[in-house]
Amino acid sequence: MTDATLKIGDHDYPVLSGSVGPDVVDIRKFYAKTGMFTYDPGFTSTGSCESGLTYIDGDEGVLLHRGYPIGQLAEQSSFMEVSYLLLNGELPSKDELDKFSYTISRHTMLHEQLATFYRGFRRDAHPMAIMCGVVGALSAFYHDSTDITDPQQRMIASHRLIAKMPTIAAMAYKYSVGQPFLYPQNDLSYTGNFLRMTFGVPAEPYLVNPVVEKALDRIFILHADHEQNASTSTVRLAGSSGANPFACIAAGIACLWGPAHGGANEAALNMLHEIGRPERIPEFIARAKDKNDPFRLMGFGHRVYKNYDPRATVMQQTVREVFKELNVSNPVFEVALQLEEMALNDPYFIEKKLFPNVDFYSGVILSAIGFPTTMFTALFALARTVGWVAQWNEMISDPEQKIGRPRQLYTGPTQRDYVPVGQR
Ligand code: SDX
Repeated sequence: MTDATLKIGDHDYPVLSGSVGPDVVDIRKFYAKTGMFTYDPGFTSTGSCESGLTYIDGDEGVLLHRGYPIGQLAEQSSFMEVSYLLLNGELPSKDELDKFSYTISRHTMLHEQLATFYRGFRRDAHPMAIMCGVVGALSAFYHDSTDITDPQQRMIASHRLIAKMPTIAAMAYKYSVGQPFLYPQNDLSYTGNFLRMTFGVPAEPYLVNPVVEKALDRIFILHADHEQNASTSTVRLAGSSGANPFACIAAGIACLWGPAHGGANEAALNMLHEIGRPERIPEFIARAKDKNDPFRLMGFGHRVYKNYDPRATVMQQTVREVFKELNVSNPVFEVALQLEEMALNDPYFIEKKLFPNVDFYSGVILSAIGFPTTMFTALFALARTVGWVAQWNEMISDPEQKIGRPRQLYTGPTQRDYVPVGQR
């Protein structure tokens, strides 16, 4: 708290300071004192909550999880360790990490009846449609972890969601290609287990490629949490009504699916394929700048980052590692590199501070590993689940939390009397 205040009319509003980042003006009593609402569609200037999980400095391209820079976590940590950090606030000891990983591995199986849910979908159903449906349906199976007032049940539900997302996502992929589901194999790592459930078949053993395993684990780290983004805010708002955690995460999955948010990784790779070769890049850059053309460069720009998304930096390095290990080259990566180079030297993108974001390169790697484009956002949801449940737990355990209920600027008709149809 600073001693500064913001004076509006006859009233002062306290200015609050966090440990780092912009101060906030506490306007919780603004309507009661003034009879007016503040107005901020898209919440570009609104702090919706207090949080200690993730800090982003968009101008400096900084991303910290519980104080640790994303570059250090991506390079030195693991997704299980980052999950523990987000949920518990500190890096675990080796014993704590082993216990946490063991706990998660013991929740990787789904209730057997949930497998029948998949058979109700068309084989060409988008994996995100399946994820929304199946994750929401978990509420119907795990009643012993839906009492949100019980911290023990909240943690079990959190562990179940983190553990089951890879199984649910892998089953969505298997269903789409008509192959049998594989059960989890818990002597594998979290990410290795997911790779085997996705690409393994009952007919032969599946060997996890350690370079691919490490690259995918790093991609999961990069997607784990990201402050109060659209899907996290959706999870918080759903949770503020007291909805059970499975329903809240299903709501977050639905929001993440949009092409302006998590769906951008799928859209970015589709765009790179549509561009096809470097000679066509100028045509697409021109379209992105044309106000009369709704086309945007997918994977570019960000509400918060007005500098390079630090996750995109790590992602580009990871592309090079995976391509070298798999001895693959993909002209689409060349298109991505040249598109980035041309856009970053174009006055339009410089002036609007549009840089590649986390979604720009992720599709190139995921495609090289063997995932179809339609699975990209499902992988984003898989990784973001730990951020969603950590943010949800933080909100539920906040004594000040209450149901979220924004107001509006009403511009519709004022009161008028009903006119019977015969007199219209
Ligand atoms: C994610 O919030 C998060 O943290 C999200 C995320 C996470 O980890 O949770 O980081 C994940 O969602 C990353 C973003 C993925 N989305 C895309 O890549 C889709 C393409 N990008 C955009 O649609 C856009 O940049 C947004 C939605 C990401 C951000 O939009 P803003 O901040 O609301 O900015 P804006 O739409 O008001 O655009 C500002 C200007 C506009 O021009 P003017 O109207 O001012 O003339 O920049 C232009 C826009 O037209 N612009 C683009 C552009 N993005 C913005 N022009 C061309 N190509 C683009 N990609």
